[in-house]
Amino acid sequence: MTHLFKKLTPSEPSVSVIGFFFVSVFFILCFFCLEYRAVTRGGLQSTLTTSFGLNGSLGQNRRPGFLEVGGDGCDVFDGNWVWDDTYPLYKSQDCLFLDEGFRCSENGRPDNFYTKWRWQPRNCNLPRFDAKNMLEKLRNRRLVFVGDSIGRNQWESLLCMLSSGVPDKDSIFEVNGNPITKHTGSLVFKFRDFNCTVEYYRSPFLVVQSRSPVGAPKKVKTTLKLDQLDWSSLQWKDADVLVFNAGHWWNYEKTIRGGSYFQEGEEVKMEMSVDKAFRRAIETLVDWIDREVNSSKTQVLFRSYAPVHFRGGDWKTGGSCHLETMPDLGSLPVSSQTLVYSKAVLDVLTERLNKSQVKKIDLLNVTYISSQRRDGHSSLYYLGPKIGPAPLHRQDCSHWCLPGVPDSWNELLYALFLKWEYGHPLNSVNASQSPV
Ligand SMILES: *[C@@H]1O[C@H](CO)[C@@H](O)[C@H](O)[C@H]1NC(C)=O
Ligand SMILES: *[C@@H]1O[C@H](CO)[C@@H](O)[C@H](O)[C@H]1NC(C)=O
Ligand SMILES: *[C@@H]1O[C@H](CO)[C@@H](O)[C@H](O)[C@H]1NC(C)=O
Ligand SMILES: *[C@@H]1O[C@H](CO)[C@@H](O)[C@H](O)[C@H]1NC(C)=O
Ligand SMILES: *[C@@H]1O[C@H](CO)[C@@H](O)[C@H](O)[C@H]1NC(C)=O
Ligand SMILES: *[C@@H]1O[C@H](CO)[C@@H](O)[C@H](O)[C@H]1NC(C)=O
Repeated sequence: MTHLFKKLTPSEPSVSVIGFFFVSVFFILCFFCLEYRAVTRGGLQSTLTTSFGLNGSLGQNRRPGFLEVGGDGCDVFDGNWVWDDTYPLYKSQDCLFLDEGFRCSENGRPDNFYTKWRWQPRNCNLPRFDAKNMLEKLRNRRLVFVGDSIGRNQWESLLCMLSSGVPDKDSIFEVNGNPITKHTGSLVFKFRDFNCTVEYYRSPFLVVQSRSPVGAPKKVKTTLKLDQLDWSSLQWKDADVLVFNAGHWWNYEKTIRGGSYFQEGEEVKMEMSVDKAFRRAIETLVDWIDREVNSSKTQVLFRSYAPVHFRGGDWKTGGSCHLETMPDLGSLPVSSQTLVYSKAVLDVLTERLNKSQVKKIDLLNVTYISSQRRDGHSSLYYLGPKIGPAPLHRQDCSHWCLPGVPDSWNELLYALFLKWEYGHPLNSVNASQSPV
């Protein structure tokens, strides 16, 4: 990894001189640019206000809080990553509830910049994450994640964030005594002192996957029943908060190529494309929520697709991301496949949850904010401290290091959760408490 840092050391005169030159030119240009605008628009102050959305001092405190008057209607997904020295919110060494695979720093990742970025919405401030407050509001309730392993990534992040507010770690446990590592199916963690559970159900397709029906062509090994929600739904339909996600398994590789075709009713749709099938599955999910979920009791969120950042290949052809140590702070195009997933979800939500109906599903729109975080992935550091970094051609640029980017998704989740709580005072005896 030494070559990575060499560039930054002062012992490389050429690099630093050139760097200094460019930085100086940049500042001089900026100065002229500001001067020019200041003259044309009547003052530096108004230039800063209009072009950077700042008013007076450095922005942050002048924005209204998301939960305050004035923050209502703020698009929390529109904003920037800002460096924040108080981050991360927890250390992986202090969190017992993390798969080895997400503990990048313990697995040898040398840089830690990726833990230092906070998501800052443009027009408001997010509430500072307060584990005790969230646990208090979850008292006697269930928060459930349903989806693929990126959902699990987010679930483990939330377990760490919440447990950081609980001194007695023994009061947090898996209700069936299952270890967190390498477990498929479901895991239910209980916070004893709050009688609440934070649960994960693995369901990468969200719909039922079953054996191929009698009489189907031989190449059909299993089918995905696009009109039937996963059986595990019986276990979580009464949860108080539901967070869905899907996408990473909805590709040719993980379906048709492996003999998994799509089924509607009795019929196996041999010709149906994966994108079309994905949309059908999302429709089934939304209709199921409409039918089965009590929307006065349960807050439902759909976490949008989290982009991958393989460069020069994909996960099986040597794609990489291990040299990325900084976010991509410019606006950048989102890949076409990412757009397919986002658009399908958005289309179905707008179609089904039209104006005549109550808004039943919150979109946790992490696609855009995460696309700027090419630096946040596990890359080579997912194998555990004993084994060490993976070979260069076997990188993971889909999952995220923890602490890291999914913590920010959960800060957004926290904000939407509090907002929902204040809109549903009957649900919580203590709802009259003021926002944090
Ligand atoms: C900037 O803030 C001042 C008060 O702090 C306010 O009077 C003024 O309208 C604000 N300007 C803009 C452009 O928001
Ligand atoms: C997600 O947020 C980004 C940035 O604000 C926005 O451009 C995009 O349209 C949003 N996507 C959805 C589906 O709302
Ligand atoms: C604990 O929470 C569950 C819901 O998760 C609820 O059914 C049960 O009544 C609660 N127990 C107590 C003692 O409040
Ligand atoms: C839906 O939830 C609310 C609030 O918990 C409850 O009062 C109501 O009885 C529930 N409705 C049904 C049909 O279960
Ligand atoms: C709104 O949704 C309902 C139920 O899904 C549907 O019956 C109705 O036609 C929709 N209205 C519009 C304008 O799309
Ligand atoms: C309400 O809050 C108070 C103190 O904040 C706490 O003692 C009490 O147990 C809470 N009640 C419920 C039902 O959560």
